[in-house]
Amino acid sequence: MKGNHSKTHVIVFVILLFAACLDVEAHSCRPSGRIRGKKPDPEKCNPEIESDCCIEGKMYTTYKCSPPVTKHTKAKLTLNSFEKGGDGDSRSVCDNKYHSDDLPIVALSTGWFNNLKRCFHNITITANGRNVVAMVVDERDSTMGCDKDHDYHPPCDNNIVDASRAVWTALEVPLVDWGELEVTWSPV
Ligand SMILES: *[C@@H]1O[C@H](CO)[C@@H](O)[C@H](O)[C@H]1NC(C)=O
Repeated sequence: MKGNHSKTHVIVFVILLFAACLDVEAHSCRPSGRIRGKKPDPEKCNPEIESDCCIEGKMYTTYKCSPPVTKHTKAKLTLNSFEKGGDGDSRSVCDNKYHSDDLPIVALSTGWFNNLKRCFHNITITANGRNVVAMVVDERDSTMGCDKDHDYHPPCDNNIVDASRAVWTALEVPLVDWGELEVTWSPV
C-alpha cells in the first residue's frame, strides 16, 4: 500500500513537472548566452563612482528575446535621462537625437524593442494605480555588454522599461522610491 502511494506521488510529480516545463516553453524567453565581465576602463565606467560597472571575471547572462507582450506585460521600470549631458549621454537609436526628460519616453529591452519596430509606438505603463502613455525612442541592449561600446555596463535585463522622469512623475511615484519599480505595460 505504502509503495503504491509513493508510486502515485512520483507519477503525479512527473506529470506536474512536465506541465511546468511546457508552460515555461510557451511563455518564457531563454538566455542566448553568457559573457565574461572585462575590467572596466575607468574613463568609461569607474566602479568607485558608479555601482553598475561590469566586474572582471563575473559571468553575465544575455538575451535576444523578452517575455511575450500581453495586456499586462510585467516589467521593471528604471529611471533614465534622454538629454544631452544626462547619464549615458547618448542619442536615442530611433532617431539619433536627444529628447527632453519632461516628455514621457522610454527605452525597451532588446526583445521588446524588436529591431526598431517599436520606435515611436506608444505604450501604456501601469503602476501605483495609475497609467501613463509613453513613446518608445530607444533600446536597452540585453544581447551584449561589458565592452567599450556599452561603457563597461553589463547587458541589460530582458524586461526593462527605462523611463524619463516625466513617466515617474505621471505615475506619482514618491521621489524617494524612484529608481526601480515593478510595473505592467501594454501596446497602445
Ligand atoms: C504616440 O503618441 C505621440 C504623442 O501623442 C504621437 O505624436 C504619435 O503619433 C504616437 N505614435 C503612434 C505610432 O501612434
